[in-house]
This record gives sequence, structure tokens and C-alpha cells, in this order.
Amino acid sequence: MGLYHQAAFAVGFLLLLVMVASPPPTYQTKPGCLNSCGNVGIPYPFGLQKDCYFDDSFFISCNDSNLPVLPANNTSVLDISIDGQLRVLSPITSGCLGYQNYTQVKTFNFSPFVVSNTTNKFTVVGCDSFAVLAASDYQTASCYGLCDNITQLTNGSCSGKGCCQSSIPNGVKDFLIVTSSVFNHTFVSDFNRCTYAFVAEEGTYNFSSLDLLNLQREFPLVLEWSIGNATCEEAQQNRETYACKEDSECYETDNVGGYRCNCSSGYRGNPYLSDGCQDINECEYPELNQCIEKNSCRNTEGNYTCSCPKGSHGDGRKDGQRCTATRNRLPLMIILGIIIGLLILFLVISWLYFGFRKRRVIKLREKYFKENGGYLLQQKFSDQEGNSIKPAQILTEKELKKATNNFHESRILGKGGQGTVYKGTLPDIQTVAIKKAKKGDETQVEGFINEVTILSQINHRNVVRLLGCCLETPVPLLVYEFVTNGTLFDHIHNVDKLIPWETRLKIATEVADALSYMHSAASIPIIHRDIKSANILLDDKYTAKVSDFGASKLIPLDKSELTTLVQGTLGYLDPEYMQTSQLTEKSDVYSFGVVLVELLTRKRAISFTRLEEERNLALHFVTSLQKNQLFEIIDHQLQTNKNTEQLKAVAMLAKSCLSVKGEERPTMKEVAIELQGLCSIEKHLWGKDNLCAQEYESLLGKPFDDSANGSTSLTIKENSIEKSVTFEIETGR
Ligand SMILES: *[C@@H]1O[C@H](CO)[C@@H](O)[C@H](O)[C@H]1NC(C)=O
Ligand SMILES: *[C@@H]1O[C@H](CO)[C@@H](O)[C@H](O)[C@H]1NC(C)=O
Ligand SMILES: *[C@@H]1O[C@H](CO)[C@@H](O)[C@H](O)[C@H]1NC(C)=O
Ligand SMILES: *[C@@H]1O[C@H](CO)[C@@H](O)[C@H](O)[C@H]1NC(C)=O
Ligand SMILES: *[C@@H]1O[C@H](CO)[C@@H](O)[C@H](O)[C@H]1NC(C)=O
Ligand SMILES: *[C@@H]1O[C@H](CO)[C@@H](O)[C@H](O)[C@H]1NC(C)=O
Ligand SMILES: *[C@@H]1O[C@H](CO)[C@@H](O)[C@H](O)[C@H]1NC(C)=O
Ligand SMILES: *[C@@H]1O[C@H](CO)[C@@H](O)[C@H](O)[C@H]1NC(C)=O
Ligand SMILES: *[C@@H]1O[C@H](CO)[C@@H](O)[C@H](O)[C@H]1NC(C)=O
Ligand SMILES: *[C@@H]1O[C@H](CO)[C@@H](O)[C@H](O)[C@H]1NC(C)=O
Ligand SMILES: *[C@@H]1O[C@H](CO)[C@@H](O)[C@H](O)[C@H]1NC(C)=O
Ligand SMILES: *[C@@H]1O[C@H](CO)[C@@H](O)[C@H](O)[C@H]1NC(C)=O
Repeated sequence: MGLYHQAAFAVGFLLLLVMVASPPPTYQTKPGCLNSCGNVGIPYPFGLQKDCYFDDSFFISCNDSNLPVLPANNTSVLDISIDGQLRVLSPITSGCLGYQNYTQVKTFNFSPFVVSNTTNKFTVVGCDSFAVLAASDYQTASCYGLCDNITQLTNGSCSGKGCCQSSIPNGVKDFLIVTSSVFNHTFVSDFNRCTYAFVAEEGTYNFSSLDLLNLQREFPLVLEWSIGNATCEEAQQNRETYACKEDSECYETDNVGGYRCNCSSGYRGNPYLSDGCQDINECEYPELNQCIEKNSCRNTEGNYTCSCPKGSHGDGRKDGQRCTATRNRLPLMIILGIIIGLLILFLVISWLYFGFRKRRVIKLREKYFKENGGYLLQQKFSDQEGNSIKPAQILTEKELKKATNNFHESRILGKGGQGTVYKGTLPDIQTVAIKKAKKGDETQVEGFINEVTILSQINHRNVVRLLGCCLETPVPLLVYEFVTNGTLFDHIHNVDKLIPWETRLKIATEVADALSYMHSAASIPIIHRDIKSANILLDDKYTAKVSDFGASKLIPLDKSELTTLVQGTLGYLDPEYMQTSQLTEKSDVYSFGVVLVELLTRKRAISFTRLEEERNLALHFVTSLQKNQLFEIIDHQLQTNKNTEQLKAVAMLAKSCLSVKGEERPTMKEVAIELQGLCSIEKHLWGKDNLCAQEYESLLGKPFDDSANGSTSLTIKENSIEKSVTFEIETGR
């Protein structure tokens, strides 16, 4: 039983082996035809029997001896290739000395087959020999074999010594070979008595010196065969005689007429037979397919496909795109995705951030605007519309930045306690002065707001005019008319620019006028609090303009004095106010008195270079007057006979202004009238016009319209942050 099983298994295994290993079936002959003669395969178009060959030229006889023979010249066939070649045996031509003629001629006829010139060689063996191959078309080949001594020869070499080879003309079908000798082999007869010549497949003859004595063999010769003598194109005209069957291609060769057939790529077999070309299952033969993965091969008709393992792609061919792992791309894609994501996130965040910041800036601007009393001023300014005088404008930060070249250093006109003043150019107002507080100084901000509030209510030709303001900034920016000629302080204390007495009187009158107006004529009394020569600006006609209202105070009508933190400039400061902190109009009168003295003496209000008793100009002046030394202290430039009386009068006026007790000082109005009186004398005396201009500019309507809602609330922060006082500004009722 075991034996039986083993045997069955062995048989099965063998069967399997046969099935797997067997080559694809070849259809070498037409059905029912013998496919071999002896051990030589005879493929169609050749045939051994009638109707088994393509035409008569492909008949091969296979006689009893089981040798395939071409009918012409009894030529033995060694093998036949379907690619168009036929190997036959061909005899040697030999001419020998002695009993035989050394000149021999042999005829060969392989028609219709052609002697292949690529694989065959015409070979001559001998030491006193030459032979000629002459084709019927008069093409020839010849070769000499010469030598004197057998010892000169080399086995295996066929290069002229004893052996010679030459190529064969192309397209030769029949030819004859003539052998001959130069000296009848006389000198080499010891070892070579014959001339041997033959056509043989290259490589089949290996020269040996022994062959000189005797060479009697037949050599294989390669013939080329083809179908007919027409081209492929011509042959395809006649489908019935066309030899190439399905899945095959026709081709022509250079050296043979007619055409041949070849199985199409991916097929093999006999292209001259129906169903002769069979699909190759490339997958079964690793050498035939290019699949990287052996198991991925799938045969197709005339071709095959390879597939790639999961997670990769490509054609799976070694000579193609191969397989590329798709998984490898994943991390790259993820990284790329992350980068893009981060980029987008970054963009979004920065967009949001800048958006928020912008919104914050806008909000901040609004806040400042509100804080800086923007709405109130806006209303006030709009109330002023329709008046003959252009109202102050609310300007944007952008406009002012443009006007001052972004607050460039070159535009700085001066730096004061209240901040920096820039020169600017606005498109419609032209040259202006722009005052900007130092950042982060709250008292300055309050001063600014104060100034806006005050100046927006004053319209006097001798008060510097506020043209506009910007409230969007943390500290408001104030825009004034640009006063061209600098400060009075400059003119008094600059030796180069001496101003004559009448001009000084005019300036004094104008300042007095402005102050008088502020104290009484304006709707609410305003105390300047910081009158000094440095705060009086002059234009090119020496018209005085009182400026710097940052410290000014509005005094409610029902109060005649106000308690404040003492503020002002040393040398100009009212001593009474210094002591009591009670602010009244008379403080301005005192300060004005100091300015008068400055005008008279051309000395600084305070100077630490002077003697101690002379340091404070006001005190020094009063003392000098008491000592009756007026003309010693007065500016020598003024001391002419003509104006002595005037000087005295002004000096007395100054003295009264400088009274220690406020009550004893005259009001600003009285001072103004007195000065105007002096001025008109001056006018009379000198016959000069327009010296002490008296024109008041009309009030800007009234700062607060009486038709409006009665009272407007305005909050002004006190300098002392703790003492914040709110008071009402009564409208002009
Ligand atoms: C082969 O046999 C045929 C007859 O069958 C004869 O005519 C022919 O001459 C023979 N050829 C050779 C080479 O023996
Ligand atoms: C070959 O056959 C032709 C005639 O077909 C003849 O003339 C020639 O001598 C033959 N040659 C040989 C070597 O048998
Ligand atoms: C043909 O050649 C073979 C050997 O090549 C020889 O045996 C045979 O006798 C020859 N037949 C004829 C008819 O020449
Ligand atoms: C060559 O040989 C032939 C016979 O094969 C003979 O008739 C002839 O006389 C010879 N010629 C010479 C020069 O020996
Ligand atoms: C055979 O003949 C062809 C056509 O004339 C030629 O191109 C080729 O070189 C020849 N081959 C040899 C080996 O002489
Ligand atoms: C051939 O060469 C050998 C040695 O070179 C010499 O001995 C011999 O005689 C030579 N034979 C002839 C025929 O010249
Ligand atoms: C060539 O080889 C043979 C043996 O195959 C030898 O007898 C002979 O001497 C060799 N000739 C030369 C020149 O080497
Ligand atoms: C030819 O013969 C020589 C010696 O006789 C040998 O060395 C050589 O390998 C042979 N060549 C071929 C191609 O057979
Ligand atoms: C070769 O031999 C022939 C006769 O066979 C003769 O006529 C001829 O003169 C000889 N040639 C030489 C060079 O010996
Ligand atoms: C082509 O071959 C046929 C016979 O096969 C023949 O009749 C014809 O003359 C040949 N033509 C040429 C140009 O060789
Ligand atoms: C015939 O086909 C095979 C396989 O397709 C190819 O390798 C060969 O080069 C072809 N021969 C010619 C002459 O085209
Ligand atoms: C077989 O398939 C491959 C890939 O699809 C292609 O490149 C090739 O040309 C095909 N071969 C044939 C003979 O169709």
C-alpha cells in the first residue's frame, strides 16, 4: 500500500513537473506533416512531403538514410532556423601535386538560397597556394596561403601564413572555386602538397599545421532563405500567397531578396503558420518579464502587466516606473499640510492682531477725543460757523503729521515749559505754529485743554489766535496762527534789535488792551497767570500777540477770586498771590507791571548775575523810584529830552502795577486807558498814525450762543489732582 502510494505520488509529481516545465507548444509544421528528418527539425515553410512546404524551393528530401538533403547538388542539411537561416555541409576543393592536377575547379549552386556573407568565410589552406571564389554575377573573393617552413606557422591563426581567410561577396547563390599554386608546391612539397579551399561558417575551422599535409573534411555553410523575391508591401497585395500569418510582422533584409516573417513582440512560434505565433506567458519565465514582484505578474495577450504592492504605485517594472511607495509621501504631505496650516494660522492671527490693534488705536483716538473735550469743542466750533471769522478747526493727527513732516526736528520753533512748538504748513491756512506737549505729562495735558477752552472764547487782535486743534492724540495738539517776529523778550534783550520807544509804548498798550479785554470784555473773566515778555509774540509790524494760555484760569462770574496752586514765572509772579494763593486779575496786573519795567529798562525780570538787591527787577525798580533814581535804571537808549514825561508816566504806571497789595494796583482796564492816553499824545507829538491801534476785533459772536440751552457744562481738571473742581460756564445771559 505504501509502495502504491509512493508510486502514485511519484507519477503525479512527474506529471506536474512536466506540465510546469514544458515549453510552449511549437507548431513547426503544417498539421499532418513530418517535422523532422533524422534528428534535424524541418519547420514550415520547409517540408519533406508534398503540400507540406511553402513552394518547391523549400522541399527537403529525406532519403532512407534519414539525412535531410537539398535536392540541388545533394547538399546535406544540418539544421534549419525559422529566423531565415539554413546550415548545410559543403565539401572542400583541393588541388594537389603529384598524381592530381594542382589546379582544380568546383561548382556550387545553392539557388534560390543565398550564401550568407556575414557568417561565412572563404578559407584557403596551403603554403604555396591561392584560390579564387567567382560568383555567377562576377563577384569574386580570393586568398593566398604562403610560407617556407612549417616551423613558422601558428596553430589557430589564419592570417596568411599557411592559412588565409577572406569575406564573401553579398547575395551569392552559385559560384565556383578555383584552386591554384604559384610554384607547383615545389618548395613546400615536404609538408604541403595541396591547396585546400572552402566556404565555411566562421569559427568552425581552426587552423592546424597538420592540415597542410592532409585536409579532408566537409564544413558547415550558412545559407539565408526568404520568401519569394518581392518586398513586404508587394507581397501584402496578395493575401493568398502572403506568407506571414496572424500576430506576425513582415520584414526585409539587405542581402537577401524577398521577405521574412517574425512573430510580433510578446509572441513566439512559427509566423508562417496559422496560429503559429503564440502568446508568451512572460510570467512563467522570470527572464522574460520585468516585474519587480514575481507574484504580481499577470499575462495578457501579447504582453503582461505587473502590479505594485499595496501602499505603492507605478507599473511595477524594473525597466519602467518601478513601484513608488505612496506611504512615503504621507509624512511629506503631513509636514506640508502642517506648514501650510501654520502659515494660515499665523496670517489669521496677525490679521486679527493688527485688526484689533487698529480698532484699539481708533478707540483710543476716540477716547482721547472725548477726554480732550472734543465733542464740546466740536459743538462750540460748529456754533461759531456762519460768523465772519473762520472758526477753529478740529484737525486730524494725520493732517498735522503731514504739515510738520512728521514732527521733524527741523520744524521746531522752540521748546517751552508747555512742550514743543513746531512750524507747520497746512494746505488752506498756510503757515501755522503747532504746539505739542511732552508725552505723559498730565499737567501739560490739562494746560492744553485749558488753553483750548480759553482761546476758543477769545478773539482779539492782540491775542494769538487758535486756528485749530487735534484731539485724537494722547496730548492735544494746538494749531495757532504763525507769528513771524519772535517774542518781545527776544527784542528787548537782544542788543541787535533795539525797538524805539514809541513801538515799545505801542506794544505795552496792545498787551494792556488784550489783558483788559480778557479780564472784563470776554464773557468770562480770564486770568492769564503767566504774563511775561517771553509770552508776548510780535509780528512783522510789531503788533503784540499775547500767547501761552496754558496756565490761564477762567473765573466764574460769582467768584472774584480762586484758590489755586501758585503758578507763574519767577520774577513776574505777584508776591501777594504767592503768599495767599488767592488768584485775582490783579496778579496779571503785577506781571504786566514787570513787563512795563522790562520795556523801560531793558533788563531781565530776574537775573542772578546782578547784585543781590538788583536781582529782582521789580523790587529794584521800585526801590530806584523811591530813591528817585529812575533815569539811572532806565534804558539809556530811551533817554532823550522828548519823552521824559512819557517815561515818567509809564514808570509811575509800572510802579502802581507793582504795588505789593493787589487792591492798590489799578485794573487792567485803567492801565489800558492810561497807556492809550500816552499813546495818543505820542501820536500827536510825532504825527504818526496807526501807532496805538485801538481797533477791537468784533467778538466772535459770543462764545456761547444765548439762544442755546442755557448753560454748558465743562469739566476742567484742577492742577491738583485731588482738588477737582467742576464749575459751570454761564452762557452769555
Ligand atoms: C533520394 O531518393 C529519391 C527517391 O526517393 C531519389 O530520386 C534521389 O536521387 C535520392 N537522393 C539522394 C541524395 O539520395
Ligand atoms: C551541382 O549541380 C550542378 C547542376 O545543378 C552541377 O553543374 C555541379 O557540378 C554540381 N556541383 C557539385 C559540387 O556537385
Ligand atoms: C549524396 O551524398 C551522400 C553523402 O554526402 C552520399 O552518401 C550519397 O551517395 C550521395 N548521393 C548521390 C546521388 O550523389
Ligand atoms: C589534369 O588531369 C586531367 C584528368 O583529370 C588530365 O586529362 C590532364 O592532362 C591533366 N593536366 C596536366 C597538366 O597534368
Ligand atoms: C555582407 O554584405 C553586405 C551587403 O553588401 C555588406 O554590407 C556586409 O558588410 C557584408 N558582410 C561581410 C562580413 O562582409
Ligand atoms: C625549417 O626551419 C628549421 C629551423 O629553423 C630548419 O632546421 C629546416 O631546415 C627548415 N626547413 C626548410 C625546408 O627550410
Ligand atoms: C599544431 O598542433 C599539432 C597537434 O594538434 C602539432 O603536432 C603541431 O606541431 C602543431 N604545430 C605548431 C606549428 O605548433
Ligand atoms: C584551435 O586550436 C588550438 C590548438 O590547436 C587551440 O589552442 C584553440 O583553442 C583552438 N581554437 C578553437 C576556436 O577551437
Ligand atoms: C607546374 O607544372 C606544370 C605541369 O604540371 C608545368 O607546366 C609548369 O611549368 C610548372 N610550373 C612551375 C613553376 O614549376
Ligand atoms: C521572382 O520569382 C518568380 C518565381 O518565384 C520568378 O518567376 C520571377 O522571375 C522572379 N522575379 C525576379 C525579379 O527575380
Ligand atoms: C523577431 O522578433 C523577435 C521577438 O519579437 C525579435 O527579438 C527579433 O529581433 C525580430 N527579428 C527581426 C529580424 O526583426
Ligand atoms: C507591453 O506593455 C508595456 C507597458 O504597458 C508597454 O510599454 C509595451 O510597449 C507593451 N508591449 C507591447 C508589445 O505591446
